[in-house]
Amino acid sequence: MLKIDGLSKRFGDKIAVDRVTVAVDKPAMIGIIGRSGAGKSTLLRMINRLTDATEGAIIFEGEDITALRGAARRAWQSRCAMIFQQFNLVPRMDVVSNVLHGTLNRRSTLATMFNLYPQEDIHRAIEILDRLGIAEQAAKRTEALSGGQQQRVAIARALMQNPRLILADEPIASLDPMNAQIVMDSLRRIHEEDGLLVICNLHTLDTARRYCDRVIGMRDGRVVFDGAPEMLTTATAREIYGAGEDFSEAATSTEIETLDGAEEIRLAEACV
Ligand SMILES: Nc1ncnc2c1ncn2[C@@H]1O[C@H](COP(=O)(O)OP(=O)(O)OP(=O)(O)O)[C@@H](O)[C@H]1O
Ligand SMILES: [Mg+2]
Repeated sequence: MLKIDGLSKRFGDKIAVDRVTVAVDKPAMIGIIGRSGAGKSTLLRMINRLTDATEGAIIFEGEDITALRGAARRAWQSRCAMIFQQFNLVPRMDVVSNVLHGTLNRRSTLATMFNLYPQEDIHRAIEILDRLGIAEQAAKRTEALSGGQQQRVAIARALMQNPRLILADEPIASLDPMNAQIVMDSLRRIHEEDGLLVICNLHTLDTARRYCDRVIGMRDGRVVFDGAPEMLTTATAREIYGAGEDFSEAATSTEIETLDGAEEIRLAEACV
């Protein structure tokens, strides 16, 4: 399905991504972990073609993504939806219009100028919001929503693109544990129900273990682990994070897993 072959990215004499080779044969939920500066974002940005690779290839379903130019590159960017830590929504715009932005590449300049959306697109946007549990927020200004709700709007916008894969760059890094859990559950559900390939950069190990079928560990631009979460030992984690003997997984925890029922209710009440 996806083949990344010897992919590298240099910034001057700094190698951000160093000869990464990864093959994905069917839709999966893949977590990329590693400390700050490991190259996680640069790798996703190359897959999405937000940045060009210095060398290597990205092949998706037989098509050479690294070679796409102009309109073909933009078409790829809509098949390959991206979700960011800071949501990248238009804060003053209402929720449903932000979701409809996911159709921009399909619309004429004129329709875009006059903010004209076909009725069926509007219905679909509301359906997607409903699926993510935030349909009742559709008419609100996006900035009035909580962080977790805004990230779900970003996921809705991604789904509106009809993507084949979703790339998420630290989608829960700005969220509290409760919202982090809701957003990760949404991504997992989309992967399972729609059969989408989801590749998700995560700072923390426990989230990757809990949600992903496969974990890729990066260090200094290189892949140092690639396998099932249960293969990830403390020793390997230590290698990925470049930590010493005193390394404990708790240090990379988002505490999603430590929430018990009572805490979840307390958090939910606090979020209202
Ligand atoms: N546009 C750029 N110009 C120069 N250097 C860059 C640029 N983007 C990234 N880098 C460098 O490339 C390396 C990898 O950065 P990247 O942002 O991919 O890491 P990351 O794993 O996503 O880190 P974080 O967890 O902090 O988001 C870093 O050393 C970074 O400083
Ligand atoms: Mg990053």
